[in-house]
Amino acid sequence: MTTGPTWQQRADVVVIGTGVGGLAAARAAHRAGSDVVVLSKSAAGSAATATHYAQGGIAVVLPDTDDSVAAHVADTMAAGGGLCDRDAVTSIVADGYRAVADLAGAGAVFDQGSDGTWALTREGGHSRRRIIHAGGDATGAEVQRALDHAATVLDVRGGHVVLQVLRDTDHVTGVLVANGDGIGVIHAPSVVLATGGLGHLYRATTNPGGATGDGVALALWAGATVSDLEFIQFHPTMLFSGGSAGGGRRPLITEAVRGEGARLIDARGASITEGVHPMGDLAPRDVVAGAIDARLRQTGDPCVYLDARGIDGFEERFPTVTAACRHAGIDPVRQPIPVVPGAHYSCGGIVTDVAGRTDLAGLFAAGEVGRTGMHGANRLASNSLLEGLVVGARAGAEAATHAIAVGRVQSRASDAVGRPILPRRILQDAMSRDASVVRDAAGLARLQDVLASAEVGPVADRADVEDAALTLTATVVAAAASARTESRGCHHRSEYPGADPARARSSTLVLRDGVVVLETPAGVAS
Ligand code: SIN
Repeated sequence: MTTGPTWQQRADVVVIGTGVGGLAAARAAHRAGSDVVVLSKSAAGSAATATHYAQGGIAVVLPDTDDSVAAHVADTMAAGGGLCDRDAVTSIVADGYRAVADLAGAGAVFDQGSDGTWALTREGGHSRRRIIHAGGDATGAEVQRALDHAATVLDVRGGHVVLQVLRDTDHVTGVLVANGDGIGVIHAPSVVLATGGLGHLYRATTNPGGATGDGVALALWAGATVSDLEFIQFHPTMLFSGGSAGGGRRPLITEAVRGEGARLIDARGASITEGVHPMGDLAPRDVVAGAIDARLRQTGDPCVYLDARGIDGFEERFPTVTAACRHAGIDPVRQPIPVVPGAHYSCGGIVTDVAGRTDLAGLFAAGEVGRTGMHGANRLASNSLLEGLVVGARAGAEAATHAIAVGRVQSRASDAVGRPILPRRILQDAMSRDASVVRDAAGLARLQDVLASAEVGPVADRADVEDAALTLTATVVAAAASARTESRGCHHRSEYPGADPARARSSTLVLRDGVVVLETPAGVAS
């Protein structure tokens, strides 16, 4: 079934992923003197990362403004539905300005107001304007450009697919990798997972094609713990396109459009959020996505609309959104934009501390794949680039320190192993039907039956590892969502419409003998 490793290399630190978390980690490890290898499964370079597609911006408390770390922490905790870790939020938010200033020092150019200071916009759940942006609505592209430029001194390799994180009894020893030369091993005492999200669990998502849950699966296969994976955030405004063109990656319409005054309406012109939340169209994301989903169920319409016709200078402020709309045949200056909620961000992931350390020595995680406790049950808009920058840099520095402490490691020769794999279309259909914005016990049980029909197959290339990762990640999402018999943050159960105070804690899951085990259940109900 498999061939053994055909090549071998050594590094101090292997970083998997080239978005904000990965490149921040790689830069920090390199600065600390480590021999760093950065791997990307994509041959397409940085246009393949979720970072590249981020529009709205980076939430950050700037000095000498009316904002404060305490206010940003309070907004983050309010959005997070009771599951944020206050210490983690405070640590990351307080380090935000330093991290952003470092990125600007590396060449990132943020939009400025007429007084020459960084321009600030607002998004859902923020009590004030604190989002810096670039190129209007092309913040991620600018962040990626600056990080790519800084990474030219690093050893970055495209077309390298990690099949397995290798370990001995108690620590990481390297990675098993497929590339154009076959399957090989990179021996390394420190591995940083920065593989991004899992939006392709669903038929339609704002995420790029590589967002297939690889890091969550690699961590579980290696024996690490994951948490909060039932909390998959649906962005309220993904561009709607009916028919077969509606699947795969779909353009995002940034929340900043609402921050600048656009209104969400249904086909009859009625407000979607009036009476739902005091912040109206700028309520936290879970509230707005839930309100849209409810309106669509009530009316049977295929989409709602974002009316941005009143925004002066729309094309200049939102060039990315304008181009995406026009590509789809919609003129956002003259027409309301058709939108639906779309799978956007995993609030949960691999359990780490605020320095990216997992519970397996030598394994680190940063960015969307990690779960620091920053996002709780629902991430506050534009907190993700912030977390990726801060935790990525810390994880890289920690990985370098760990590599020095451990010294040379040797992975035992390993074959690529077989894993349960469900055909992607079947998996995406089942997840879209049964684990979307609103869930219930019957749907989740049906989903678990579908997932149980996965058959073990070889994992030797990118398609195999993605499909195996999607299958395991979906299994974890289904288990966590079934166990959480309440509605909290972006997890909505139709038969349990309210939050249950007895369940205000995170679930943690591990893989034991190939079986997903809910180690800490969501609640303590007696
Ligand atoms: C957006 O621009 O609306 C997305 C920002 C985010 O996901 O944080």
